[in-house]
Amino acid sequence: MRTLHVKVFRKWSANEGRPFYQEFHVPEFERMSVLMLLDAIKEHWDSTLHYEAVCRSSICGSCAIKINGRPRLACKTQTSDLPEHILLEPLDVFPLIRDLATDKSVFFEKLNQALETWVHRKHPFDGTDEILTNEIANRLYDTERCIECGICISACPAASFAGFIGATGSSKGLRFALDPRNENKQARQKLLTLLTSNEGLWGCHGVGACKNFCPKEIPLINQLANARMEVLKLVFGEMVSN
Ligand code: SF4
Ligand code: FES
Repeated sequence: MRTLHVKVFRKWSANEGRPFYQEFHVPEFERMSVLMLLDAIKEHWDSTLHYEAVCRSSICGSCAIKINGRPRLACKTQTSDLPEHILLEPLDVFPLIRDLATDKSVFFEKLNQALETWVHRKHPFDGTDEILTNEIANRLYDTERCIECGICISACPAASFAGFIGATGSSKGLRFALDPRNENKQARQKLLTLLTSNEGLWGCHGVGACKNFCPKEIPLINQLANARMEVLKLVFGEMVSN
């Protein structure tokens, strides 16, 4: 087994202390993930190291960091797929909490408020199954697989434009615009206005970093291209029905 030479970004908090890189030399073991590597460093070398992880199985999205410059999930990335020199840094774009931990909550809260990510009903649900067509269900499926890890946002060069809701936001917005159970016309129109602005689908520059790095392999860039067409159809549909 190899010895891994790991450089880790350190900073005590967003406003305190100067950033520096700390080096550790860690014996690799079989089926070691980057998250296990961080655990080993914390347990044996420096208990002050700060990083986030909840589910340890690619479900919660909390362990997203930059590994050798690429945004990835630490729990999903195997050290055997990496060279012996490993650089670990926090995700770009999001505010730093400490060391490798970043605060994604502000972005996702803003997103939920802007998009109102729930199905707006005129009447309360009466318990009867509402069957979706296969076509609609398949379209909604991909947008539902997002684990909100923030990787697509941090990888996206357009995300530096403060208002841009990114691939995950656009995809989420489309999910609620397409859902036939969303009965509130005003809410749908608000969603469509956002999606047809530079903060939504028209803010995408087509770089494709979102698709390249998404750990759930959601075809975001293809979704965005299709979403533009879908949204135009919906906008014209709403205009005709008004
Ligand atoms: Fe993460 Fe993919 Fe969701 Fe973006 S779309 S937040 S990369 S799971
Ligand atoms: Fe939950 Fe990695 S710890 S996705």
